[in-house]
Amino acid sequence: MQSKGRLLIVEDEKIALKNLVHVMTKEGYDVAGTQSGATALGWIESQSFDVVLTDLRMEKVDGMQVLKKCRERSPDTEVIMITGHATPESAVEAMKSGAFFYIAKPFRLDDVRKVVREALEKNLLKRENRQLREQIEGYEGKVKIITQDPAMLKVLEMARQVAPTDCNVLITGESGTGKELFARYLHYNSGRADGPFVAVNCGAFGEELLSNELFGHEKGAFTGALTLKKGLIESAQGGTLFLDEITEMSPAMQVKLLRVIQEREVLHLGGTAPVKTDARYIAATNRDIETVTRDGSLRQDLFFRLNVVNLHIPPLCERKGDVAPLSYYFLKKFSVLMKKEVNDISPEAISVLENHDFPGNVRELENIIERGVAINTGQTIELAHLPEKLREASAQMFRKKEGRVPSLEAQEKAYIRWVLNEAGGNQTVAAQMLGINRVSLWRKLKSYEMDDGTLLDGTP
Ligand SMILES: Nc1ncnc2c1ncn2[C@@H]1O[C@H](COP(=O)(O)OP(=O)(O)OP(=O)(O)O)[C@@H](O)[C@H]1O
Ligand SMILES: [Mg+2]
Repeated sequence: MQSKGRLLIVEDEKIALKNLVHVMTKEGYDVAGTQSGATALGWIESQSFDVVLTDLRMEKVDGMQVLKKCRERSPDTEVIMITGHATPESAVEAMKSGAFFYIAKPFRLDDVRKVVREALEKNLLKRENRQLREQIEGYEGKVKIITQDPAMLKVLEMARQVAPTDCNVLITGESGTGKELFARYLHYNSGRADGPFVAVNCGAFGEELLSNELFGHEKGAFTGALTLKKGLIESAQGGTLFLDEITEMSPAMQVKLLRVIQEREVLHLGGTAPVKTDARYIAATNRDIETVTRDGSLRQDLFFRLNVVNLHIPPLCERKGDVAPLSYYFLKKFSVLMKKEVNDISPEAISVLENHDFPGNVRELENIIERGVAINTGQTIELAHLPEKLREASAQMFRKKEGRVPSLEAQEKAYIRWVLNEAGGNQTVAAQMLGINRVSLWRKLKSYEMDDGTLLDGTP
């Protein structure tokens, strides 16, 4: 029979202890019992109990100390006090210190059973709530950035350092690399973490609408402005304003924004009195920073204001080592969210993922794993659960010819031929691309009888 819960009984009277252990074991609990408060403290330190039933008055270590230890070591554990010398004061004291219930001797066994059952129900509820909270916080509230890539770790270290400062930050990187994630990381690791994180996609609105959203307007500022509207800059008061796709903002708006950042006050559309603002600004763009500052999509003066620190996130194809850890991270996330038991990814599937270039970066990988979990009926993401496009690309590499896989030699020949072709026939360049020296390449070409004029035309 499966245990209904783990119980610790601490009672210095031998007979009473034996009785309680016997009764509770019969109830289906997994019971540990001791006459010594000191032993109980050691057990609480090293094991986990759902409910602790303890005598209050004991020699040396008493019930209050047992209760205190439980509160320190395992906040979910419920403690029930028993005593033969019940005084109202000690009952109150025990309850105040967090005891679940207080039972006075002599007691009816039925009462003890009932109280233990209720304590267990509460314990279960607490644990479920905590697990749920951890899941939600782990994946939504607190920001987790997964990486083991040396270049990314440097970016992360830099982010860790600037987060608590009030510096404005410009985050650059291709689409889907994690710019918004980093912006949230900065916010939640700053003194503004309890304030709002407000994200605006500057590319999602037309000029007028964006201006209205950012700066707000006074009542009657234009036809249809029936009430006063606060802007997003004000909404980010005490928090962080994340300006995504900053280069999509018109130059005129950029001037207005620059003024707000510098003056720390905002003027509503149609307003005359500026309103004080206090936001930290984080901007992002997926475009090349040199190009956008040169072609004017991002005004130099605004650029300097925002780019106090630049965090550049490398594309996923430049950090293939992150593919596996990210895959497992997303696997866990989606298994929990979809309440499925998918908990592994086959080596073949990982290898196909690692060979993919991910133009959509981490977001693309996330979507692939989400789909892999959704369509899965087993416990492992296999090749079959990956998108066809990816599987095809990998099959191409190992296509069977007349029912047989090509030999290693044939594969090597084909590969060298392809690299030579990529190198425009230049053997020195090809050797560099292959990571071998020129003489080794020449030897291979000789031994494969490839050192003739047919080198350039061949594809595998
Ligand atoms: N290192 C990482 N660890 C965990 N999750 C990540 C990581 N990088 C990106 N993600 C996740 O990938 C998804 C895309 O990231 P995000 O939205 O931050 O990208 P982005 O750079 O802002 O993209 P876009 O330019 O398209 O707006 C998000 O769900 C994010 O949580
Ligand atoms: Mg984004």
